[in-house]
Amino acid sequence: MKPVNDCFLRALKRKPTEFTPVWLMRQAGRYLPEYCETRSRAGSFMGLAQNPDYATEVTLQPIDRYGLDAAILFSDILTVPDAMGLGLSFVQGEGPVFAKPVQTEEAVNALYVPDPNVELGYVMDAVKSIRRALGNRVPLIGFSGSPFTLACYMIEGRGSRDFRTVKTMMYRRPDLLERVLDVNAEAVAAYLNAQIAAGAQAVQIFDTWGGMLADGDFQRFSLAYTMKVLAKLEKVSDGEPVPSIVFTKGGGEWLSAIANSGCDAVGLDWSVNIARARRETADRVALQGNLDPYVLFGTEETIRREVRRVLDGFGPVKDGGHVFNLGHGINQFTPVESVQILVDEVHEYSRRYH
Ligand code: CP3
Repeated sequence: MKPVNDCFLRALKRKPTEFTPVWLMRQAGRYLPEYCETRSRAGSFMGLAQNPDYATEVTLQPIDRYGLDAAILFSDILTVPDAMGLGLSFVQGEGPVFAKPVQTEEAVNALYVPDPNVELGYVMDAVKSIRRALGNRVPLIGFSGSPFTLACYMIEGRGSRDFRTVKTMMYRRPDLLERVLDVNAEAVAAYLNAQIAAGAQAVQIFDTWGGMLADGDFQRFSLAYTMKVLAKLEKVSDGEPVPSIVFTKGGGEWLSAIANSGCDAVGLDWSVNIARARRETADRVALQGNLDPYVLFGTEETIRREVRRVLDGFGPVKDGGHVFNLGHGINQFTPVESVQILVDEVHEYSRRYH
């Protein structure tokens, strides 16, 4: 069934809307006091993500507070390698850590595609529970990491500034990296299709680390595998199209290639000029983005001005499609009232362009 507010889904399909829809990457997170409250009851991040009732509660928090135009499943991209048996934990002050990083040929050969309805059944339960709780108010976005971004954490075993272990494998044993990427592409496609079957109405692939690759390597090790995923995705569910968004942080150099990957929308980080992005992709896809998340630390006047700058940059929507978002996840120290200013300014000011 169509959501009452389906502005987000229409924008992704480049159909007319009355205003520009807005949601924010990491909209449910530590900047919200109600999130911190639920998280302390859950005990840990994984305790939160693995409990469908808690996951539902925090998914709806930013929707209830701000009137955003889409909800995003509360989970994490690293649940997939965790389901492959790599042993994910979040260490205070250090971020995600895997107990069994994939650094040898034996470890690569031992990788398998988890059954999304078994090992990741808790995510599908969360999707169903969130859909019930949303009661069709706004659409629900499902998501996954890209095969390459997941490989970065799996091989490195944790976050990194330079992902040296990954790049070492890439330049010494590209065959091993490609085996990891093949398993990941299968796993991500199955995982996203299970989310769609459970009720996700759009999906986003986060390629957070694709942008650190050299030209040529990006196409070979990141985009090619994102394309394998896109080719396998269910395009229709319940009689409604299920649009896909590819967000590559640092992907500004390859917008045209990403727009040709088979996705419906391309996510932009804040380094990209959105008018140029629109020219380069020639309205073949919708665009999502791309306010610098740190604008939210500015004054009310600055936030309104910078929001208008992005909307003016995209310009009259006509045959295009624009979903307003930040250029990356919201920072945990963001003042809560800044987000309301952003949402209201997008909704009001964008009407002139529709
Ligand atoms: O957008 C949403 O509100 C949905 C939830 C969501 C989370 N992570 C929850 C989360 C989404 C879409 C993600 C994606 C994610 N996770 C990415 C891709 C997007 C991006 O930010 O580039 C990546 C790279 C991860 C991996 C990850 N998860 C890291 C590096 C960390 C620790 C960093 C940190 O901010 O502490 C996480 C933990 C995490 N995932 C938190 C949240 C709200 C914070 C942890 C907490 O509450 O303790």
